[in-house]
Amino acid sequence: MSEIRESVHGQWSSRWAFVLAATGSAVGLGNIWKFPYITGENGGGAFVLVYLVCIAIIGIPIMMAEIMLGRRGRQSPMNTMRTLALEAGSTPHWAWLGWMGVLAGFLILSYYSVIAGWALAYVFRTGIGTFDGQTADGVAHIFQSFLADPEGLLFWHTLFMVMTMLVVARGVSGGLEKAVKFLMPGLFVILLILLGYALSTDGFGEGVTFLFKPDFDALLFKVGEDGVKIWNPGPVLTALGHAFFTLSLGMGAIMIYGSYLPSNASIARTTFIIAGADTAVALLAGMVIFPIVFANGLEPSAGPGLLFQSLPLAFGHMPWGAFFGTLFFILLVFAAWSSSISLIEPAVTWLVENHGMDRLKASVVMGIACWAFGLLTVFSFNVWSDVRLLPMFETFADKSIFDLLDYLTANIMLPLGGLLIAIFAGWVMRTEATRDELDMGEGLAYRLWLALVRFVTPVAVIVVFLHAIEIINVG
Ligand code: PFF
Repeated sequence: MSEIRESVHGQWSSRWAFVLAATGSAVGLGNIWKFPYITGENGGGAFVLVYLVCIAIIGIPIMMAEIMLGRRGRQSPMNTMRTLALEAGSTPHWAWLGWMGVLAGFLILSYYSVIAGWALAYVFRTGIGTFDGQTADGVAHIFQSFLADPEGLLFWHTLFMVMTMLVVARGVSGGLEKAVKFLMPGLFVILLILLGYALSTDGFGEGVTFLFKPDFDALLFKVGEDGVKIWNPGPVLTALGHAFFTLSLGMGAIMIYGSYLPSNASIARTTFIIAGADTAVALLAGMVIFPIVFANGLEPSAGPGLLFQSLPLAFGHMPWGAFFGTLFFILLVFAAWSSSISLIEPAVTWLVENHGMDRLKASVVMGIACWAFGLLTVFSFNVWSDVRLLPMFETFADKSIFDLLDYLTANIMLPLGGLLIAIFAGWVMRTEATRDELDMGEGLAYRLWLALVRFVTPVAVIVVFLHAIEIINVG
């Protein structure tokens, strides 16, 4: 295994510290905020099924590959890719993969911080009992007026970005490790309590059916103006993109965390734990939110506001609602926090390695730049809600700035990053090197992993891409 290189940024104190931090990165807004709303927008069960298949046959092998690359290279993603490419006798241009990751992380954090800001604001709102006894319309109205106020959004976005940079500046073991230790168990417990409430509503059956009963028509077709069914590959791409987003894959975040992993930890076992916890949280969140949605006659396809328009209703009506509501949003903020630090970590390590900056300065520089870019998202929910940056392309013509950033990063950049990671791990690196680093022996498990990264992932990502950009035209 890779005893040769040491990371200059430090190392996790144990395998568990890595598992916690990587789970902290994976579990975030993607699970609790995004997964339910994209499931609602894409018709429910069939979407969930495709997402689960993507996690199993694409997400897990790529996560193993990404951790492996990180641990072998032990530097920022660009420098890791360059070193490993040279080691394998390939071109140093593989460093571009790292660059794309840095850019993706930067873009994602710019909007992630705005949404995390919503969660911060809701900590206080639930705390002061804003939602007590509110109707569905009342809760929706509170959310709409919240979005309509750019100064408010800006305040919370700023606060969240400062929180992120404070942890990043303190470095791997100082900041990141400690932040996640209490979060995961806490999040599980509060979701289970909310599940108890969801069970008591009369929407539980309908909610769970929506989430788990596949209706492939709803997934694969949309109804055109003249009532004719049209083939629509978009949701499958969204499910694939979300598998990457939710596991923090395809942009170097898990690679950089892997670079702090001690050499003797089992990559496969670690990956299963992280992916399992991540999937469990997403499904739990869905099982909490959809019953509340159906019990209150809300629209499952409400979009990014789904979480913020459904859960406060529950908090407004359940015993101890203000208490549980505040606790829930605090935990959501923590989950977002432990993800946001990993989004910016590749960029910060790069500034430290290649520009000789200290961590503090690198964090401040990146934080300010990302904060400023986040203004685009802040305004896209109000004063610029009609602005379209790429109206000339059909796919983007109806997308607000926030929707566009989300689409470009989650549906394009992350799967593309994942594809390149799979090709690199499967085809460019020598099998002796991957076998040595994964330490799974030469048996079935290793060969299965190799087949998945060599064939299944590249073919799946390419086919979904080509369909989605409508090069292959079926139907
Ligand atoms: N996985 C995080 C979530 O589900 O909220 C988001 C994320 C973090 C995506 C880090 C990508 C990343 F590198």
